[in-house]
Amino acid sequence: MAETEQSMVFTNPKKRGPKDATADDDGFVTGTGDWAAVSTKRVARNDPAGALASVRHEFGEHGGVNMSIEASATFTVMEADTLRRMFAGELGPDRDFFIYSRHCNPTVLNLGRQMAALEGTEAAYCTASGMAAISSVLIQLCGAGGRVVASRCLYGGTHALLAHFLPRACGIRVEFVDIDDIEAVRAAIRSDKEATRVLYVEMMSNPTLAVADVPRLSAVAREEGLKLVVDNTFTPMVVSPARLGADVVVHSVSKFISGGADIIAGAICGPASLVKSMMDLQHGSLMLLGPTMNAKVAFEISERLPHLSLRMKEHSKRAMAYATRMKKLGLKVIYPGLEDHPHHSLLASIANPDYGFGGMLCLDMGSEERANRLMHHLQNTTQFGLMAVSLGYYETLMSCSGSSTSSEMSPEEKARAGISPGLIRMSVGYSGTLEQRWNQFERALALMQQQHHQQQDAAIYCKA
Ligand SMILES: Cc1ncc(COP(=O)(O)O)c(C=O)c1O
Repeated sequence: MAETEQSMVFTNPKKRGPKDATADDDGFVTGTGDWAAVSTKRVARNDPAGALASVRHEFGEHGGVNMSIEASATFTVMEADTLRRMFAGELGPDRDFFIYSRHCNPTVLNLGRQMAALEGTEAAYCTASGMAAISSVLIQLCGAGGRVVASRCLYGGTHALLAHFLPRACGIRVEFVDIDDIEAVRAAIRSDKEATRVLYVEMMSNPTLAVADVPRLSAVAREEGLKLVVDNTFTPMVVSPARLGADVVVHSVSKFISGGADIIAGAICGPASLVKSMMDLQHGSLMLLGPTMNAKVAFEISERLPHLSLRMKEHSKRAMAYATRMKKLGLKVIYPGLEDHPHHSLLASIANPDYGFGGMLCLDMGSEERANRLMHHLQNTTQFGLMAVSLGYYETLMSCSGSSTSSEMSPEEKARAGISPGLIRMSVGYSGTLEQRWNQFERALALMQQQHHQQQDAAIYCKA
Protein backbone atom coordinates (compact mmCIF):
# COMPACT_ATOMS: atom_id res chain seq x y z
CA MET A 1 0.00 0.00 0.00
CA ALA A 2 1.29 3.45 -0.85
CA GLU A 3 2.50 5.49 2.10
CA THR A 4 0.21 8.29 0.99
CA GLU A 5 -2.07 7.92 -1.95
CA GLN A 6 -1.79 10.41 -4.76
CA SER A 7 -4.97 10.76 -6.73
CA MET A 8 -4.84 10.31 -10.48
CA VAL A 9 -4.37 13.59 -12.30
CA PHE A 10 -6.81 13.98 -15.17
CA THR A 11 -6.10 16.28 -18.05
CA ASN A 12 -9.01 16.98 -20.29
CA PRO A 13 -7.83 18.55 -23.54
CA LYS A 14 -11.21 20.24 -23.92
CA LYS A 15 -10.23 22.37 -20.97
CA ARG A 16 -6.79 23.16 -22.31
CA GLY A 17 -5.84 26.66 -23.23
CA PRO A 18 -4.17 27.98 -26.35
CA LYS A 19 -0.93 26.53 -27.54
CA ASP A 20 1.18 28.98 -25.59
CA ALA A 21 -0.50 28.19 -22.26
CA THR A 22 1.91 26.63 -19.81
CA ALA A 23 1.34 23.13 -18.66
CA ASP A 24 0.75 24.51 -15.18
CA ASP A 25 -2.52 26.06 -16.32
CA ASP A 26 -4.03 22.61 -16.28
CA GLY A 27 -2.62 21.82 -12.91
CA PHE A 28 -0.17 19.16 -13.93
CA VAL A 29 3.55 18.78 -14.52
CA THR A 30 5.96 20.88 -12.56
CA GLY A 31 6.21 23.72 -15.02
CA THR A 32 9.89 23.97 -14.17
CA GLY A 33 10.95 22.92 -17.62
CA ASP A 34 11.22 19.25 -16.63
CA TRP A 35 8.75 18.34 -19.35
CA ALA A 36 8.87 14.61 -18.88
CA ALA A 37 9.12 14.73 -15.13
CA VAL A 38 6.56 13.00 -12.95
CA SER A 39 5.90 13.53 -9.33
CA THR A 40 6.40 10.17 -7.69
CA LYS A 41 7.45 11.64 -4.37
CA ARG A 42 4.10 10.95 -2.76
CA VAL A 43 4.02 7.33 -3.84
CA ALA A 44 5.69 4.61 -1.80
CA ARG A 45 9.18 3.64 -2.96
CA ASN A 46 8.16 0.10 -3.69
CA ASP A 47 4.79 0.62 -5.36
CA PRO A 48 5.32 0.91 -9.13
CA ALA A 49 1.64 0.22 -9.88
CA GLY A 50 0.63 3.06 -7.54
CA ALA A 51 3.12 5.39 -9.20
CA LEU A 52 1.83 4.45 -12.65
CA ALA A 53 -1.77 5.07 -11.58
CA SER A 54 -0.90 8.55 -10.35
CA VAL A 55 0.60 9.76 -13.58
CA ARG A 56 -1.63 12.22 -15.42
CA HIS A 57 -4.36 10.63 -17.53
CA GLU A 58 -4.53 11.89 -21.09
CA PHE A 59 -8.00 12.05 -22.67
CA GLY A 60 -8.66 11.92 -26.39
CA GLU A 61 -9.09 15.05 -28.44
CA HIS A 62 -12.91 14.77 -28.19
CA GLY A 63 -13.00 13.73 -24.57
CA GLY A 64 -12.46 10.05 -25.32
CA VAL A 65 -11.28 7.96 -22.40
CA ASN A 66 -8.19 7.00 -24.39
CA MET A 67 -5.69 9.57 -25.52
CA SER A 68 -5.56 10.59 -29.16
CA ILE A 69 -2.64 9.58 -31.31
CA GLU A 70 -0.63 12.58 -32.48
CA ALA A 71 0.21 11.17 -35.89
CA SER A 72 2.04 14.25 -37.19
CA ALA A 73 5.70 14.20 -38.06
CA THR A 74 5.86 17.99 -37.92
CA PHE A 75 4.04 20.77 -36.04
CA THR A 76 2.81 24.18 -37.10
CA VAL A 77 3.26 27.48 -35.28
CA MET A 78 1.19 30.68 -35.27
CA GLU A 79 4.13 33.06 -35.64
CA ALA A 80 7.35 32.68 -37.60
CA ASP A 81 9.53 33.71 -34.67
CA THR A 82 8.22 30.79 -32.61
CA LEU A 83 10.24 28.37 -34.76
CA ARG A 84 13.42 30.30 -34.02
CA ARG A 85 12.61 30.29 -30.30
CA MET A 86 11.98 26.53 -30.36
CA PHE A 87 15.28 25.85 -32.11
CA ALA A 88 17.03 28.16 -29.64
CA GLY A 89 15.62 26.03 -26.81
CA GLU A 90 13.45 28.83 -25.38
CA LEU A 91 10.20 26.97 -26.02
CA GLY A 92 9.80 23.23 -25.69
CA PRO A 93 7.52 20.29 -24.94
CA ASP A 94 7.03 21.45 -21.33
CA ARG A 95 4.91 24.27 -22.78
CA ASP A 96 3.36 22.17 -25.51
CA PHE A 97 5.71 23.32 -28.26
CA PHE A 98 6.82 20.53 -30.54
CA ILE A 99 9.22 20.79 -33.48
CA TYR A 100 9.39 17.44 -35.19
CA SER A 101 8.53 13.90 -34.07
CA ARG A 102 12.10 12.57 -34.32
CA HIS A 103 12.86 15.02 -31.52
CA CYS A 104 9.68 14.71 -29.47
CA ASN A 105 6.13 13.60 -30.18
CA PRO A 106 3.29 14.26 -27.68
CA THR A 107 1.98 10.67 -27.73
CA VAL A 108 5.46 9.23 -27.26
CA LEU A 109 6.09 11.82 -24.57
CA ASN A 110 3.02 10.63 -22.71
CA LEU A 111 4.30 7.05 -22.74
CA GLY A 112 7.59 8.46 -21.46
CA ARG A 113 5.74 9.90 -18.46
CA GLN A 114 4.23 6.50 -17.73
CA MET A 115 7.60 4.75 -18.05
CA ALA A 116 9.21 7.32 -15.74
CA ALA A 117 6.47 6.71 -13.18
CA LEU A 118 6.88 2.94 -13.50
CA GLU A 119 10.61 3.13 -12.85
CA GLY A 120 10.55 6.03 -10.40
CA THR A 121 12.80 8.27 -12.49
CA GLU A 122 12.46 11.95 -13.31
CA ALA A 123 12.04 11.37 -17.02
CA ALA A 124 11.93 8.74 -19.74
CA TYR A 125 12.24 8.62 -23.52
CA CYS A 126 10.81 5.81 -25.61
CA THR A 127 12.72 4.32 -28.52
CA ALA A 128 12.16 2.08 -31.51
CA SER A 129 13.74 -0.97 -29.81
CA GLY A 130 15.55 -2.06 -26.69
CA MET A 131 18.84 -2.05 -28.60
CA ALA A 132 18.16 1.56 -29.71
CA ALA A 133 17.72 2.53 -26.04
CA ILE A 134 20.91 0.74 -24.94
CA SER A 135 23.12 1.98 -27.78
CA SER A 136 21.92 5.62 -27.51
CA VAL A 137 22.58 5.72 -23.77
CA LEU A 138 26.01 4.15 -24.04
CA ILE A 139 27.09 6.41 -26.90
CA GLN A 140 25.81 9.50 -25.07
CA LEU A 141 27.41 8.64 -21.73
CA CYS A 142 30.72 7.29 -23.04
CA GLY A 143 31.67 9.17 -26.17
CA ALA A 144 34.63 8.12 -28.30
CA GLY A 145 37.38 6.54 -26.22
CA GLY A 146 35.10 6.06 -23.22
CA ARG A 147 35.08 2.81 -21.33
CA VAL A 148 32.38 0.55 -19.92
CA VAL A 149 32.74 -2.02 -17.15
CA ALA A 150 30.00 -4.55 -17.83
CA SER A 151 28.63 -7.75 -16.42
CA ARG A 152 29.79 -10.85 -18.24
CA CYS A 153 26.20 -12.20 -18.12
CA LEU A 154 24.31 -10.08 -20.64
CA TYR A 155 21.85 -10.61 -23.49
CA GLY A 156 23.85 -11.74 -26.56
CA GLY A 157 22.97 -8.65 -28.59
CA THR A 158 24.14 -6.29 -25.83
CA HIS A 159 27.27 -8.39 -25.39
CA ALA A 160 28.02 -8.12 -29.12
CA LEU A 161 27.30 -4.36 -29.10
CA LEU A 162 29.81 -3.87 -26.29
CA ALA A 163 32.40 -6.41 -27.39
CA HIS A 164 32.45 -5.71 -31.12
CA PHE A 165 30.29 -2.90 -32.49
CA LEU A 166 30.98 0.01 -30.12
CA PRO A 167 34.77 -0.61 -30.03
CA ARG A 168 34.87 -0.70 -33.85
CA ALA A 169 32.43 2.13 -34.54
CA CYS A 170 33.14 4.54 -31.66
CA GLY A 171 36.35 3.44 -29.97
CA ILE A 172 34.35 2.65 -26.82
CA ARG A 173 36.17 -0.02 -24.80
CA VAL A 174 34.69 -2.63 -22.47
CA GLU A 175 35.83 -4.92 -19.71
CA PHE A 176 33.49 -7.76 -18.72
CA VAL A 177 33.53 -8.77 -15.04
CA ASP A 178 31.81 -11.03 -12.55
CA ILE A 179 29.52 -8.49 -10.89
CA ASP A 180 29.08 -10.70 -7.84
CA ASP A 181 32.70 -9.91 -7.06
CA ILE A 182 32.50 -6.27 -5.96
CA GLU A 183 36.27 -5.98 -5.56
CA ALA A 184 36.74 -7.22 -9.14
CA VAL A 185 34.25 -4.58 -10.30
CA ARG A 186 36.13 -1.88 -8.41
CA ALA A 187 39.50 -3.10 -9.73
CA ALA A 188 38.18 -3.10 -13.32
CA ILE A 189 36.97 0.49 -12.91
CA ARG A 190 40.22 1.63 -11.32
CA SER A 191 42.37 0.02 -14.01
CA ASP A 192 41.38 2.99 -16.19
CA LYS A 193 39.26 5.22 -13.99
CA GLU A 194 39.70 8.32 -16.11
CA ALA A 195 38.06 6.76 -19.17
CA THR A 196 35.42 4.60 -17.42
CA ARG A 197 32.02 6.24 -17.59
CA VAL A 198 29.50 3.43 -17.19
CA LEU A 199 28.93 0.33 -15.10
CA TYR A 200 26.44 -1.77 -17.11
CA VAL A 201 24.41 -4.69 -15.75
CA GLU A 202 21.13 -6.53 -16.25
CA MET A 203 18.84 -6.55 -13.22
CA MET A 204 18.16 -10.22 -13.92
CA SER A 205 20.57 -11.58 -16.50
CA ASN A 206 19.58 -13.06 -19.82
CA PRO A 207 19.53 -16.05 -19.85
CA THR A 208 21.16 -17.17 -16.59
CA LEU A 209 18.77 -15.32 -14.23
CA ALA A 210 21.57 -13.99 -12.03
CA VAL A 211 20.40 -10.99 -10.01
CA ALA A 212 22.51 -7.83 -9.82
CA ASP A 213 23.12 -6.40 -6.36
CA VAL A 214 22.10 -2.90 -7.46
CA PRO A 215 22.36 -1.28 -4.01
CA ARG A 216 26.01 -2.35 -3.69
CA LEU A 217 26.88 -1.69 -7.33
CA SER A 218 25.33 1.78 -7.19
CA ALA A 219 27.40 2.57 -4.10
CA VAL A 220 30.56 1.57 -6.02
CA ALA A 221 29.46 3.62 -9.05
CA ARG A 222 28.88 6.67 -6.84
CA GLU A 223 32.21 6.28 -5.04
CA GLU A 224 34.10 5.88 -8.30
CA GLY A 225 32.20 8.67 -10.08
CA LEU A 226 30.51 6.78 -12.92
CA LYS A 227 26.94 5.99 -13.95
CA LEU A 228 25.21 2.70 -13.21
CA VAL A 229 23.01 1.68 -16.15
CA VAL A 230 20.64 -1.24 -15.49
CA ASP A 231 18.64 -3.22 -18.06
CA ASN A 232 15.36 -4.13 -16.32
CA THR A 233 13.78 -5.99 -19.26
CA PHE A 234 13.24 -9.25 -17.30
CA THR A 235 11.75 -7.71 -14.17
CA PRO A 236 9.50 -4.68 -14.73
CA MET A 237 7.33 -4.10 -11.61
CA VAL A 238 9.21 -6.90 -9.80
CA VAL A 239 12.27 -4.74 -9.13
CA SER A 240 12.75 -0.97 -9.45
CA PRO A 241 16.49 -0.46 -10.02
CA ALA A 242 16.35 3.36 -9.94
CA ARG A 243 14.70 3.22 -6.53
CA LEU A 244 17.68 1.08 -5.46
CA GLY A 245 20.27 3.56 -6.72
CA ALA A 246 20.68 2.96 -10.49
CA ASP A 247 21.25 6.15 -12.48
CA VAL A 248 19.61 4.95 -15.69
CA VAL A 249 17.19 2.09 -16.38
CA VAL A 250 16.80 0.74 -19.91
CA HIS A 251 14.11 -1.58 -21.21
CA SER A 252 13.33 -3.75 -24.14
CA VAL A 253 9.65 -2.78 -24.11
CA SER A 254 9.19 -5.54 -26.73
CA LYS A 255 9.00 -8.07 -23.87
CA PHE A 256 6.86 -8.07 -20.69
CA ILE A 257 5.83 -4.41 -20.99
CA SER A 258 4.31 -5.01 -24.43
CA GLY A 259 3.10 -8.49 -23.48
CA GLY A 260 1.76 -9.20 -26.96
CA ALA A 261 4.90 -10.35 -28.85
CA ASP A 262 3.76 -8.00 -31.61
CA ILE A 263 5.79 -4.85 -31.02
CA ILE A 264 9.48 -3.92 -30.98
CA ALA A 265 10.14 -0.99 -28.64
CA GLY A 266 12.46 0.32 -25.94
CA ALA A 267 12.78 2.93 -23.22
CA ILE A 268 15.39 4.95 -21.36
CA CYS A 269 14.39 6.03 -17.85
CA GLY A 270 16.64 8.41 -15.94
CA PRO A 271 17.34 11.95 -14.84
CA ALA A 272 15.64 14.73 -16.85
CA SER A 273 19.09 16.27 -17.44
CA LEU A 274 20.29 13.09 -19.19
CA VAL A 275 17.17 12.74 -21.33
CA LYS A 276 17.39 16.41 -22.29
CA SER A 277 21.05 16.10 -23.21
CA MET A 278 20.21 13.08 -25.35
CA MET A 279 17.57 15.17 -27.16
CA ASP A 280 19.87 18.11 -27.72
CA LEU A 281 19.46 19.36 -31.28
CA GLN A 282 23.20 19.53 -31.93
CA HIS A 283 24.71 16.96 -29.58
CA GLY A 284 22.07 14.46 -28.53
CA SER A 285 22.22 10.80 -29.55
CA LEU A 286 18.42 10.55 -29.68
CA MET A 287 17.97 13.58 -31.92
CA LEU A 288 20.93 12.79 -34.17
CA LEU A 289 20.83 9.00 -34.45
CA GLY A 290 17.03 9.05 -34.65
CA PRO A 291 16.05 5.89 -32.76
CA THR A 292 12.65 7.34 -31.91
CA MET A 293 9.40 5.46 -31.35
CA ASN A 294 6.42 5.74 -33.68
CA ALA A 295 3.42 7.50 -32.06
CA LYS A 296 1.08 4.63 -33.01
CA VAL A 297 3.35 2.19 -31.19
CA ALA A 298 3.48 4.52 -28.18
CA PHE A 299 -0.32 4.54 -28.04
CA GLU A 300 -0.47 0.73 -28.15
CA ILE A 301 2.07 0.34 -25.34
CA SER A 302 0.42 3.05 -23.27
CA GLU A 303 -2.84 1.06 -23.33
CA ARG A 304 -1.05 -2.07 -22.04
CA LEU A 305 0.84 -0.50 -19.14
CA PRO A 306 -2.18 -0.37 -16.80
CA HIS A 307 -2.41 -4.17 -16.76
CA LEU A 308 1.33 -4.87 -16.60
CA SER A 309 1.04 -5.23 -12.84
CA LEU A 310 -1.61 -7.97 -13.10
CA ARG A 311 0.28 -9.76 -15.86
CA MET A 312 3.59 -9.74 -13.97
CA LYS A 313 1.94 -11.20 -10.88
CA GLU A 314 0.51 -14.10 -12.88
CA HIS A 315 3.77 -14.71 -14.82
CA SER A 316 5.62 -14.89 -11.49
CA LYS A 317 3.02 -17.07 -9.80
CA ARG A 318 3.12 -19.66 -12.59
CA ALA A 319 6.92 -19.60 -12.89
CA MET A 320 7.22 -20.24 -9.14
CA ALA A 321 4.73 -23.13 -9.29
CA TYR A 322 6.43 -24.80 -12.28
CA ALA A 323 9.94 -24.28 -10.89
CA THR A 324 8.94 -25.88 -7.58
CA ARG A 325 7.29 -28.85 -9.32
CA MET A 326 10.15 -29.30 -11.82
CA LYS A 327 12.60 -29.39 -8.95
CA LYS A 328 10.50 -32.03 -7.18
CA LEU A 329 10.74 -34.15 -10.35
CA GLY A 330 14.53 -34.01 -10.02
CA LEU A 331 15.09 -31.61 -12.94
CA LYS A 332 17.89 -29.06 -12.86
CA VAL A 333 15.92 -25.87 -12.66
CA ILE A 334 17.21 -22.34 -12.22
CA TYR A 335 14.69 -19.91 -10.73
CA PRO A 336 15.45 -17.04 -8.34
CA GLY A 337 12.32 -17.87 -6.34
CA LEU A 338 13.83 -21.20 -5.27
CA GLU A 339 15.83 -21.11 -2.08
CA ASP A 340 18.77 -22.88 -3.72
CA HIS A 341 19.23 -20.03 -6.22
CA PRO A 342 22.42 -18.12 -5.28
CA HIS A 343 20.59 -14.77 -5.41
CA HIS A 344 17.32 -15.85 -3.79
CA SER A 345 17.79 -13.83 -0.59
CA LEU A 346 19.17 -10.85 -2.48
CA LEU A 347 16.12 -10.70 -4.74
CA ALA A 348 13.76 -11.27 -1.81
CA SER A 349 15.35 -8.28 -0.07
CA ILE A 350 15.16 -5.84 -3.00
CA ALA A 351 11.98 -6.92 -4.87
CA ASN A 352 8.75 -4.93 -4.69
CA PRO A 353 6.12 -6.68 -2.56
CA ASP A 354 3.54 -8.96 -4.22
CA TYR A 355 5.33 -9.46 -7.54
CA GLY A 356 7.15 -12.68 -6.69
CA PHE A 357 10.43 -13.53 -8.40
CA GLY A 358 9.66 -12.93 -12.06
CA GLY A 359 8.30 -14.90 -15.00
CA MET A 360 11.53 -16.42 -16.34
CA LEU A 361 12.95 -19.82 -15.50
CA CYS A 362 15.70 -22.01 -16.93
CA LEU A 363 15.92 -25.74 -17.22
CA ASP A 364 19.30 -27.34 -17.78
CA MET A 365 18.74 -30.52 -19.79
CA GLY A 366 22.44 -31.40 -19.90
CA SER A 367 22.83 -31.37 -23.68
CA GLU A 368 21.44 -29.42 -26.60
CA GLU A 369 20.03 -32.62 -28.05
CA ARG A 370 17.98 -33.37 -24.91
CA ALA A 371 16.89 -29.72 -24.68
CA ASN A 372 15.70 -29.79 -28.28
CA ARG A 373 13.88 -33.09 -27.80
CA LEU A 374 11.98 -31.77 -24.80
CA MET A 375 11.08 -28.51 -26.56
CA HIS A 376 9.91 -30.49 -29.58
CA HIS A 377 7.39 -32.42 -27.46
CA LEU A 378 6.40 -29.35 -25.43
CA GLN A 379 5.42 -27.54 -28.61
CA ASN A 380 4.45 -30.19 -31.16
CA THR A 381 2.98 -32.96 -29.01
CA THR A 382 1.44 -31.43 -25.90
CA GLN A 383 1.13 -27.71 -26.77
CA PHE A 384 2.70 -26.50 -23.53
CA GLY A 385 4.45 -23.60 -25.24
CA LEU A 386 6.15 -22.28 -28.34
CA MET A 387 9.73 -22.62 -29.52
CA ALA A 388 10.63 -18.97 -30.02
CA VAL A 389 13.02 -16.36 -28.71
CA SER A 390 11.75 -13.30 -26.81
CA LEU A 391 9.74 -13.21 -23.63
CA GLY A 392 6.80 -11.70 -21.81
CA TYR A 393 4.11 -13.21 -24.03
CA TYR A 394 0.90 -14.75 -22.63
CA GLU A 395 1.98 -18.10 -24.13
CA THR A 396 5.08 -19.80 -22.76
CA LEU A 397 8.08 -19.18 -25.02
CA MET A 398 11.17 -21.37 -24.90
CA SER A 399 14.55 -21.43 -26.58
CA CYS A 400 17.92 -23.06 -26.16
CA SER A 401 19.91 -19.92 -25.32
CA GLY A 402 23.43 -21.13 -26.20
CA SER A 403 22.50 -21.69 -29.83
CA SER A 404 20.07 -18.76 -30.16
CA THR A 405 19.94 -15.52 -28.17
CA SER A 406 23.45 -16.01 -26.76
CA SER A 407 25.00 -17.46 -29.93
CA GLU A 408 26.92 -14.19 -30.38
CA MET A 409 29.15 -15.25 -27.48
CA SER A 410 32.18 -17.53 -27.93
CA PRO A 411 32.11 -20.96 -26.20
CA GLU A 412 34.53 -19.61 -23.57
CA GLU A 413 32.37 -16.52 -22.94
CA LYS A 414 29.28 -18.70 -22.62
CA ALA A 415 31.05 -20.99 -20.18
CA ARG A 416 32.18 -18.00 -18.09
CA ALA A 417 28.62 -16.63 -18.12
CA GLY A 418 27.21 -20.01 -17.04
CA ILE A 419 25.32 -20.73 -20.26
CA SER A 420 25.47 -24.49 -20.70
CA PRO A 421 24.61 -26.07 -24.09
CA GLY A 422 21.44 -27.74 -22.73
CA LEU A 423 20.01 -24.62 -21.10
CA ILE A 424 16.37 -23.97 -22.01
CA ARG A 425 15.18 -20.46 -21.18
CA MET A 426 11.44 -20.31 -20.56
CA SER A 427 9.29 -17.23 -20.42
CA VAL A 428 6.31 -18.60 -18.52
CA GLY A 429 2.94 -17.62 -19.97
CA TYR A 430 -0.42 -17.39 -18.25
CA SER A 431 -2.89 -18.62 -20.87
CA GLY A 432 -4.89 -21.75 -19.99
CA THR A 433 -5.05 -23.00 -16.44
CA LEU A 434 -1.99 -23.73 -14.38
CA GLU A 435 -2.94 -27.40 -13.96
CA GLN A 436 -3.73 -27.85 -17.65
CA ARG A 437 -0.31 -26.48 -18.58
CA TRP A 438 1.51 -28.51 -15.94
CA ASN A 439 -0.14 -31.63 -17.24
CA GLN A 440 1.14 -30.77 -20.71
CA PHE A 441 4.64 -30.33 -19.33
CA GLU A 442 4.61 -33.68 -17.51
CA ARG A 443 3.31 -35.49 -20.59
CA ALA A 444 6.07 -34.04 -22.80
CA LEU A 445 8.72 -34.98 -20.25
CA ALA A 446 7.38 -38.54 -20.00
CA LEU A 447 7.35 -38.88 -23.79
CA MET A 448 10.89 -37.66 -24.03
CA GLN A 449 12.07 -40.10 -21.36
CA GLN A 450 10.13 -42.96 -22.99
CA GLN A 451 11.78 -42.21 -26.33
CA HIS A 452 15.17 -42.18 -24.63
CA HIS A 453 14.57 -45.65 -23.12
CA GLN A 454 13.36 -46.99 -26.47
CA GLN A 455 16.54 -45.67 -28.11
CA GLN A 456 18.66 -47.31 -25.41
CA ASP A 457 16.81 -50.61 -25.90
CA ALA A 458 17.33 -50.36 -29.66
CA ALA A 459 21.06 -49.71 -29.16
CA ILE A 460 21.38 -52.76 -26.91
CA TYR A 461 19.41 -54.86 -29.42
CA CYS A 462 21.70 -53.73 -32.32
CA LYS A 463 24.84 -54.52 -30.35
CA ALA A 464 23.50 -57.97 -29.49
C1 LIG B 1 17.70 -8.22 -21.64
C2 LIG B 1 17.51 -7.67 -23.02
N1 LIG B 1 17.85 -6.39 -23.27
C3 LIG B 1 17.69 -5.86 -24.50
C4 LIG B 1 17.19 -6.59 -25.54
C5 LIG B 1 17.03 -5.94 -26.89
O1 LIG B 1 15.73 -5.53 -27.05
P1 LIG B 1 14.99 -5.34 -28.48
O2 LIG B 1 14.84 -6.69 -29.09
O3 LIG B 1 13.70 -4.69 -28.12
O4 LIG B 1 15.87 -4.45 -29.29
C6 LIG B 1 16.81 -7.91 -25.33
C7 LIG B 1 16.27 -8.70 -26.44
O5 LIG B 1 16.10 -9.89 -26.37
C8 LIG B 1 16.97 -8.47 -24.04
O6 LIG B 1 16.63 -9.72 -23.76
